[in-house]
Amino acid sequence: MSGQSGNPAGGADNASTAALLAGALADDGALSPSALLTLLSADPADSGTLFAAADLVREHNLGDEVHLRGIIEFSNCCVKNCRYCGLRRDNRRLVRYRLGPDEILTAAREAAALGIKTIVLQSGEDPYYSADMLAGLIYRLKEELDVAVTLSLGDRPREDYRLMRRAGADRYLLKHETADPALFAALRPGTTLTDRLRHLYWLRELGYEVGSGNMVGLPGQTLNTLVEDILLLRELGVEMAGIGPFIPHPDTPLTGCPAGSLELTLKVLAVTRLVLPRAHLPATTALGSIHPDGRRRGLLCGADVIMPNVTPLLYRSRYQIYPGKVGLSATPSEAVAAARSLIQSLGRRVGRGYGGVSRRNPEKNKKREE
Ligand code: 5AD
Ligand code: SF4
Repeated sequence: MSGQSGNPAGGADNASTAALLAGALADDGALSPSALLTLLSADPADSGTLFAAADLVREHNLGDEVHLRGIIEFSNCCVKNCRYCGLRRDNRRLVRYRLGPDEILTAAREAAALGIKTIVLQSGEDPYYSADMLAGLIYRLKEELDVAVTLSLGDRPREDYRLMRRAGADRYLLKHETADPALFAALRPGTTLTDRLRHLYWLRELGYEVGSGNMVGLPGQTLNTLVEDILLLRELGVEMAGIGPFIPHPDTPLTGCPAGSLELTLKVLAVTRLVLPRAHLPATTALGSIHPDGRRRGLLCGADVIMPNVTPLLYRSRYQIYPGKVGLSATPSEAVAAARSLIQSLGRRVGRGYGGVSRRNPEKNKKREE
């Protein structure tokens, strides 16, 4: 992330305090752990300055474009048993569903027709979908539609990742969820942070643009854990990072735990923007679900992505990762229109390209970005 030096305020003379903070801090994102902790500890009176600085850094590095990623939640079946998640294997109250490849393609076509340039295929960890089946789907999707494809399918064998990449998948989202190894193991039974990181390195080796991220407000998490989360994102050099509040689900062991707050989630988002000036950071659906203004606030403190839900309405309410998820009744067309109008209301522009990374390896990305 070096090489993007210069004053991120770019001559914004009148934004003195924020510009100073941005100029001092975002030179190459090399903030010390104690500086990160100080920023995350800012009281509400000072966090406005942090948010403004993050907004400036975003504008300086990425401009005004906000990218739309259309998300298709194609299966809510999951073999894992994460203690925070409503899709966990032991949640017997959830009615499970799976979309077939043709249904997924139909949803992707509809999204592309609405101007969406990135399709995110997301599911629980569902081995029903073999690598061959997914690769076939990705191939058809890339053949037919002018879109980037992001996968968010959890842990799979390296060979699966390889086949799907070869079939044309561009990006992969695999959140590290929490950088505290003990908390990770407690919340994700049978799995370790080390193993998760191994998967992330595989994805990197295979040439995916990689996204990770974490939840804010998990029980047992401290501000120091969040510092570690941000440092891990920097170490991984992620192209994307999804940061959202933890929201307790009634049918999980964490029911009754407090949710992550809007304020702290925004601070983590803003500090992440300072540390990763060019990464794509969504104003997450979870942020929009804990506060009606959450996504707008996210866009104002560093975020540059919105992910409208383009899952067929019939299945929408069953992808209950957490309760109170926004957008359960909006059609794909309504979801995209709402995202566009939010972006325009902020005086920003809807991204016209694929919103990928053209800098890491310009040659590799040439074709895609043209
Ligand atoms: N609250 C907020 N986010 C959650 N996720 C899973 N469960 C919850 C929850 N209770 C997020 C995780 C995961 C993604 C599928 O959803 O970050 O990566
Ligand atoms: Fe499955 Fe992902 Fe939910 Fe864990 S967080 S239970 S892996 S869908």
